[in-house]
Amino acid sequence: MKCLVTGGAGFIGSHIVRHLLDRGFEVLCLDNFDPDLEIKKANVDHFLENEDFELVRGDIRDAELLKRLVMDIDYIFHEAALVSVVESMKDPVKTIEVNTIGTLNVLGAGMKGDVKKVIIASSAAVYGDLPALPKIEDMIPAPRSPYAISKLDCEYAARIFYEEYGLKTTSLRYFNVYGPGQDPASPYAAAIPIFIRKALRNEAIPIYGDGSQTRDFIFVRDVVLANELAMSKGEGGIFNVANGSAVSINELAKLIIELTGSKSEIIYKEPRTGDIKHSVADIGEIKKIGFSPEFSLEKGLEETIEWFRQQ
Ligand SMILES: NC(=O)c1ccc[n+]([C@@H]2O[C@H](COP(=O)([O-])OP(=O)(O)OC[C@H]3O[C@@H](n4cnc5c(N)ncnc54)[C@H](O)[C@@H]3O)[C@@H](O)[C@H]2O)c1
Repeated sequence: MKCLVTGGAGFIGSHIVRHLLDRGFEVLCLDNFDPDLEIKKANVDHFLENEDFELVRGDIRDAELLKRLVMDIDYIFHEAALVSVVESMKDPVKTIEVNTIGTLNVLGAGMKGDVKKVIIASSAAVYGDLPALPKIEDMIPAPRSPYAISKLDCEYAARIFYEEYGLKTTSLRYFNVYGPGQDPASPYAAAIPIFIRKALRNEAIPIYGDGSQTRDFIFVRDVVLANELAMSKGEGGIFNVANGSAVSINELAKLIIELTGSKSEIIYKEPRTGDIKHSVADIGEIKKIGFSPEFSLEKGLEETIEWFRQQ
């Protein structure tokens, strides 16, 4: 069995690559290393000695390249994307070109080869600032950025390719993913990598607003397990991938201080415009197909902190 992981040099993609290699699959990683070439190279360089691993530096906007690459591929895990909401507001066209057109290229290539399934990384961003909680998959989406629109495009496209052309697809709406390998400078890094780095240096931990805002954090290895599950389940479906529990930013900061034994203080800053107040997922749908998160926040943070200590 051979898998293509687009964006396989990124944070989540490289965890998927490792898991697939551990499971005995051959893995082809397609990534353009854009931006942050060095960080992304470090994510995949250690796989290069594995004879089941192949790296192609290329772009998902290149439809012909994708068609060539999928010829002997069984499963596609599509993680490649421009992930910055802020950048998507500055250059919406580029975000749509990479995320929407790139996904159409991946799906189109899936039709040309003998691909058994395409698993698409979507995002909780599609819910926007809808006030209703918890977020359920059949809520009417309310995307608030070109990034969120592009992720919704991916879901709709995946569903159409399944319903109209019979290509098996599943879209996974990731909530706040964290874990080893996440770059504190990444636009998605949000609280956890920043807090851990500050805590390990005994520096003040900044919280925007009063810290009562909540998020649904999911450890990256649980996200990998959701992807593995989607190889055989959930055809044509869209599923939240989260822990299903709300954690306040105050609770998070205190837990990180406790787990690192840090002397850091928490400092409160003006709330950031555009930040949503609460986010928590209903994970009933993905549970029905067999998903159950294995990592508590504490366990996931311990592994993440250990990784940061070794850097
Ligand atoms: N990290 C999160 O909390 C989170 C939450 C929701 C959704 N997601 C989604 O999960 C996926 C992976 O996110 P991540 O956090 O690992 O981000 P990441 O930036 O670490 O990984 C994305 C990878 O895609 C590659 N890439 C970008 N443009 C490309 C192109 N045109 N051609 C080929 N490769 C390209 C990048 O080089 C990078 O390695 C993305 O689709 C993202 O939208 C992530």
